Amino acid sequence: MRLHYTLSIFAGLLCPPAFAANKSDIPTLPLSTDSTFNFQFLIALGDTLTGGADIAPVLGAAKNIKAGDMASFSEQFYKLANQTKESAENPENAYDPVNVRDTWFSASQYFRRADFYVHENWSNPLIKSLWAEQTAAFDKAISALPVPGERVRIPVQERNFTIEAIWYGVPGRDARKLPTLVIGNGFDAAQEDSYHYFVAFALARGWNCITYEGPGQSTVRREQDVGFIPDWETVVTPVVDYVLSEKSHVVDRTRLVLVGNSFGGLLAARAAAFEPRLSAAVLIDGLWDFHAGVIMQLPSDILALYEVGNYTQFDHTVLSLRRAGKLSTMAAWGIDQGLWSFYTHSPSDFFNQTKQYKLEGVVEKIQIPVFVGDGEYDNYFPGQARKVKDALGDRATLHEFHGVAGYHCQTGAGQEMARAMFAWLNKTLGKA
Ligand SMILES: *[C@@H]1O[C@H](CO)[C@@H](O)[C@H](O)[C@H]1NC(C)=O
Ligand SMILES: *[C@@H]1O[C@H](CO)[C@@H](O)[C@H](O)[C@H]1NC(C)=O
Ligand SMILES: *[C@@H]1O[C@H](CO)[C@@H](O)[C@H](O)[C@H]1NC(C)=O
Ligand SMILES: *[C@@H]1O[C@H](CO)[C@@H](O)[C@H](O)[C@H]1NC(C)=O
Ligand SMILES: *[C@@H]1O[C@H](CO)[C@@H](O)[C@H](O)[C@H]1NC(C)=O
Ligand SMILES: *[C@@H]1O[C@H](CO)[C@@H](O)[C@H](O)[C@H]1NC(C)=O
Ligand SMILES: *[C@@H]1O[C@H](CO)[C@@H](O)[C@H](O)[C@H]1NC(C)=O
Repeated sequence: MRLHYTLSIFAGLLCPPAFAANKSDIPTLPLSTDSTFNFQFLIALGDTLTGGADIAPVLGAAKNIKAGDMASFSEQFYKLANQTKESAENPENAYDPVNVRDTWFSASQYFRRADFYVHENWSNPLIKSLWAEQTAAFDKAISALPVPGERVRIPVQERNFTIEAIWYGVPGRDARKLPTLVIGNGFDAAQEDSYHYFVAFALARGWNCITYEGPGQSTVRREQDVGFIPDWETVVTPVVDYVLSEKSHVVDRTRLVLVGNSFGGLLAARAAAFEPRLSAAVLIDGLWDFHAGVIMQLPSDILALYEVGNYTQFDHTVLSLRRAGKLSTMAAWGIDQGLWSFYTHSPSDFFNQTKQYKLEGVVEKIQIPVFVGDGEYDNYFPGQARKVKDALGDRATLHEFHGVAGYHCQTGAGQEMARAMFAWLNKTLGKA
C-alpha cells in the first residue's frame, strides 16, 4: 500500500485501533473482525475495478483466514496466487492478451498480499521469493497492455541507490504531448499496486504515468538493502529529469503532476518543495508530521520509556511483546514493517528516524497547487490533512472524503478517489 497503516503503527499496543475499537465506526460491512485484514481485503477488492483481482476468489481466501493469524493470511493468498498463476500459464487461456493481462495482474496482486505480513524476520525466504513471483507476474501483465509498460532504473550515484520505475504511455496518442503523473507510495505499498490505484484510471483519461520506488520501498529495500531517507527530493528529482529528457516527445511539461499515496503524501509534499518543474501535487491523503502520528498511537507507559530516554528498555519491551504475540495484528505489522523499511532492528531508532519526516520548515517552499485529501475514517493522523491545508493556504484544496470513501487512502472507493482527483486536475490545469 500504500502505507495503509502508516499512522496506526502502534495502535494496538495500548489503545486498540480505531476501526476495531468500535465496529459502528467503520463505514462498510466488515470482512474480518481483524481490522487490518479487513483493510487488506478491501485493497484487493478495490483493485478489481482495474483488473487487479477477482471478487469471489478474494472473499474465498478471506473465508479461510483466521483473524489475527498472519500466517494463515499469507498461506491463503499464496495458495490463491499459485492457482491463478497456473491459470495464467495454461496455453488454453494464454492465447489472448486480455486473458494474459487480467490473470497475471491478479496473480501478482495475490503474491503481494501473501507477502504483506512476512517481514518480521528479515531472513524469511518468502520476502524475496514472493516478490520475485509478484514481479514476474506483473511484468507479464504489463507487457500485454496496449502500450506495454516499461521498466526503468534510474541510478542516483551520489547517494548509492537506484530508483525503480515503470513508464506507462497512453494508447493511440503517440504523436501528442500529454499531461503526466509521477506516482509514489509510502510505507508499504509497491509501484505495482499503483497501476491499479492510479495508473489505469489515468491512462483511461489520457494521462501518461510513471510510478517509482525509492529507498525503504518494496523492490529497492529488497534488492539494495536501503531504508527510507527523509530528503525525498533526492528520489523525485531524478524521476522528473528522466521524464523531461527521455519522454519529452510525449510529455506536456506544463502539466506534470506529483502524486503521493499514504505516507507518500508526506514524501511527495516534501519533494514538491524542492522541485520547481512540477505543475501540481496530489496528496492521498495529506500528512503533516509522521512522528507525531506514530507517537499518538503509543500507550502511555511505553511512550514514557521512550520519552525519558530509556531506549534499551523501550526496545526490549516492544520487541518482547512482539515476539510473545501480545500485540494486535496492526501493531505487530507496524513494528515489523517499520523496522524493515527504515532498516533498523531497534524500535527506538525507528522512532527517532520518524522525527525527520515532517513538513514544518519546508511547506512554505511549495509553489504549486496542491490537492489535499482527507479520509473521515482515517483517524490515525487526525487533523493532519487539515494542518497541511492550513499551512499551504490558498495553494491547497482540502477534499474531505466522507462515509464509504473515508478509509485511509480511500481504499475500496477508487472510483470516487479518481473522480475527485481528476476533476480537480482538470479544473486546475485544464483538460487532458
Ligand atoms: C460507537 O460509535 C457509535 C457512533 O459513532 C456510538 O454511538 C457508540 O456509543 C460507540 N460505542 C462505543 C462502545 O464506544
Ligand atoms: C505455491 O507454489 C510453490 C511452488 O511454486 C510452493 O513451493 C508453495 O508451497 C505453494 N504455496 C502454497 C501455499 O500452495
Ligand atoms: C529467520 O529465518 C531464517 C531463515 O528461514 C531462520 O534460519 C531463522 O531461524 C529465523 N529467525 C528467527 C528468529 O526465527
Ligand atoms: C552501494 O550499494 C551497494 C548495493 O546496493 C553496496 O554493495 C555498496 O557497498 C554500497 N557502497 C557504498 C559506498 O555504500
Ligand atoms: C529503564 O527502565 C527500566 C524498567 O522500567 C528500569 O529498571 C531502568 O532502571 C531504567 N533505566 C534508566 C537508565 O532509567
Ligand atoms: C534516539 O535519539 C536519542 C536522542 O537524540 C539518542 O540519544 C538515542 O541514542 C537514539 N537512539 C538510537 C537507537 O539511535
Ligand atoms: C475540464 O476542463 C475543460 C477546459 O480545460 C473545461 O471546459 C471543462 O468544463 C472542465 N471540466 C470540469 C468537470 O471541470
